[in-house]
Amino acid sequence: MKIVSAEFIKSATRPGNYPPNELPEIAFAGRSNVGKSSLINVLVNRKSLVRTSSTPGRTQLINFFNINGEFSLVDLPGYGFAKVPLAVKKSWGPMIRNYLEIRESLRGVIFIFDIRRVPREEDLRMLDWLEEFAVPTIPVITKIDKIKKSQLEKQIKPIVAETGLPRDAFTLFSATTREGKDEIWERIEAALDV
Ligand code: GTP
Ligand code: MG
Repeated sequence: MKIVSAEFIKSATRPGNYPPNELPEIAFAGRSNVGKSSLINVLVNRKSLVRTSSTPGRTQLINFFNINGEFSLVDLPGYGFAKVPLAVKKSWGPMIRNYLEIRESLRGVIFIFDIRRVPREEDLRMLDWLEEFAVPTIPVITKIDKIKKSQLEKQIKPIVAETGLPRDAFTLFSATTREGKDEIWERIEAALDV
């Protein structure tokens, strides 16, 4: 994918504030600090189009970005971080569920897992919603630079087991080495049908 332009459109929490359903859209989901914002920055070749942080819970709104004037990428707020305020935690579920349910322009969700972590309840709930609303799902395992190559498959096993998704469904990625970037773009292009 050749990136000609990448622009922040707006942030929203509820449907009334989403941008119009004009462009096909791909959203990025996963627990707090998993590397959603970093993945988007690598995909669009921008160091900081999307704000990243070593502090989990940085992204608390649904952030919409316009790419090439052709499609949108959406950074969804992460879940599962203990230290965000209770009000934010409570609003997360309905905010995401609502988005997945009613967003007509949504063509797929990149669902991100950390190679070092076993998926938890929130991840499985998210998977249930994706299934419930029949949203095409592109699972990605990130931060693979943190693990020795020889240990990769061993680390992937519990992620496959907990999610019930086939091993082949997962694309491996690292924001540090950019490995997996082209494969993720291919899958996004297929989902966008561009
Ligand atoms: P929230 O917005 O809090 O939900 O987090 P996020 O999922 O957007 O994560 P973010 O992209 O902000 O990254 C969190 C931390 O992980 C940052 O310190 C990143 O530099 C780091 N990180 C992200 N991806 C990778 C990766 O592939 N490898 C390594 N080593 N670090 C990564
Ligand atoms: Mg983020």
